Amino acid sequence: FYVDKGNHRHFMQKEIYEQPEVVGHTLGAFVDMTTGRTKIPQGQPLDFSSVRRMAISACGTGFYAGTVGRYYFERYARIACDLDVASEFRYRESPLGDVDLALFVSQSGETADTLASLRYAKAQGLKTASIVNVPESTIARESDLLLPTLAGPEIGVASTKAFTCQLTALAALSVRAGVDRGAVSAEEELELTGALAEAPRMINAALHLEERIEELAHDMANHRHALFLGRGFSYPLAMEGALKLKEISYIHAEGYAAGELKHGPIALIDETMPVVVIAPHDRVFEKTVSNMQEVAARGGKIILITDEKGAASGAVDAAETIVLPNMPEILTPIVYSVPLQLLAYHTAVHMGTDVDQPRNLAKSVTVE
Ligand code: G6P
Repeated sequence: FYVDKGNHRHFMQKEIYEQPEVVGHTLGAFVDMTTGRTKIPQGQPLDFSSVRRMAISACGTGFYAGTVGRYYFERYARIACDLDVASEFRYRESPLGDVDLALFVSQSGETADTLASLRYAKAQGLKTASIVNVPESTIARESDLLLPTLAGPEIGVASTKAFTCQLTALAALSVRAGVDRGAVSAEEELELTGALAEAPRMINAALHLEERIEELAHDMANHRHALFLGRGFSYPLAMEGALKLKEISYIHAEGYAAGELKHGPIALIDETMPVVVIAPHDRVFEKTVSNMQEVAARGGKIILITDEKGAASGAVDAAETIVLPNMPEILTPIVYSVPLQLLAYHTAVHMGTDVDQPRNLAKSVTVE
């Protein structure tokens, strides 16, 4: 196939801009958009009513999607989730006796470690399901159930639209699981799918912040290190934001759970350290605010990504603030990904790196 960049300078930027559309498509595979009821794609037999424990594994960006997935499944479906990077899952030989479903997340469907993990799970007699973007791929074919993301071909090595489509699939699936298990009522199901249906509009609102984020990126480009912090749903995003930045700009970045700041990373904080804090005004906002105060007290330069409520709370001494609209909690991982992608993208463009083909990285890692 041939895919071109359209009016965009790089595939990565084009793919960032495709997100409102492809996230909408992906949602349509998991939610009947006329009734608002969740569904399993292609009517496949997947019933979560007797699923009490799941094992999720994946690599790279897919692993961070899986990490958000764990938070979703635990919150909305009350299903306990084990979570591993696939290269550990395949060798750890964890006793899987009480695991009812193994779930894999992969854009390409060809990553060697994820495929080996899938085969390991099958050999243990587990039921397997995979969230995959390439339906003809090996992982898609070998899984008992294929849960497709409809991101379309992703060319940029740094994953963007595949990630937000994975999050969308995981969010809808966790609601479905909640319904099956009686943890989500019919009314709550409609509320949650109604929230998810707002994703394209909210992503568009985030895309409108591009110019502002580009300014911040020019400053980021002057640094050699950066820290990303988040709590709850935003913790995996902190890791994904750091991964995106290091992949394409080669700035050393670490993503940390905000509450772990005092157990190490705080030693790194001084006036030269940019600290990106992902903090929607959710149930853990106040906790994250107190971590930000610890950073501010040591002269760290906070770039806060929050919503209108968070910005209005006035509790934070941030050097810079990126303000998104207020939105339901289930949407925050999907939408807050976008400013993180744009920050990494513009930092890399400003530094002149090869954004779509960063050094030493491959789009799909088919060797161990
Ligand atoms: C490589 C890519 C990443 C991707 C990871 C897992 O490292 O550069 O963007 O997240 O592989 O790939 P998968 O296709 O399994 O999602």
